[in-house]
Amino acid sequence: MPSLAKVEVFAPAKINLTLHVTGQRADGYHLLDSLVAFAGVGDRVIVEPGEGFSILGSFSNDLSVTDDNLVLRARNLFGDRERVKIELHKSLPIASGIGGGSADAAATLRAISDLTGIALPSNKAILSLGADVPVCLAGRSCRMRGIGEWLDPVARLPEAWFVLVNPGLSVPTPAVFRALEDRNGVPMPDELPRWTSVNELAEWLAGQRNDLQRPAIKIQPAIETVLQALQETDGCLISRMSGSGATCFGLFADAAQANRAAADIAKGRPDWWIAPAPILSGAS
Ligand code: C5P
Repeated sequence: MPSLAKVEVFAPAKINLTLHVTGQRADGYHLLDSLVAFAGVGDRVIVEPGEGFSILGSFSNDLSVTDDNLVLRARNLFGDRERVKIELHKSLPIASGIGGGSADAAATLRAISDLTGIALPSNKAILSLGADVPVCLAGRSCRMRGIGEWLDPVARLPEAWFVLVNPGLSVPTPAVFRALEDRNGVPMPDELPRWTSVNELAEWLAGQRNDLQRPAIKIQPAIETVLQALQETDGCLISRMSGSGATCFGLFADAAQANRAAADIAKGRPDWWIAPAPILSGAS
């Protein structure tokens, strides 16, 4: 075991700014074309030599410490040569379209590799944890294609803030894909623009889509209420669902506007999870 005593890795929320479903593979998985960004709110994974797995934080009660937990599945990819103790601090709602489980799995892979010096598992093994795990491991804004395995980093995104809102409901991803009517949507343009301002980004996003939004609303109409609540706040440039839902994002020019919008929504909806957070810089 190398000399590191403890490694902590941030697992930021993954936001699908767009999500076009462009086809379906013979095994049922859908082909996507998605612009993915990350937000400055997320879980934390802490690993150190030892044994055990514990979950702490706001959403810890929603998760079970069973073998199918993505953190444990990620750990198991390293085999049992090294013993590691893992602590997961949950701040993101579970199964909510912002990659919580995938972000945790990616952070676990990174943390164990840094702690032990063991190389990351193969791309195929990483993808087997979940279609969003590779992009979460990349940890920077990317255009994501295939089922999630083809990643092209995108130029730095303009400075902007999200308000993330989840109505306290989880929507099962397979059910949303099943409810999709058109599986052959038009992809994004071959060349993505280089957005120089948040207004430019928002205008461009308005011409793109999340194809899973409509089927998700069919299953969970509260998503429409969330989108409307975001759209009605001052300064919201665009609102859209992320992933297969139910979390939606509003895009804002700065922290002040995002914080104000978040507070306004929270007044009427104390039961919703509402998180203002900056877009994390695209280029590393
Ligand atoms: O890979 P992940 O565990 O995130 O996917 C959950 C489920 O969502 C899959 O079992 C599949 O039914 C559906 N899915 C899909 N196409 C994708 C990603 C997920 O059909 N690209």
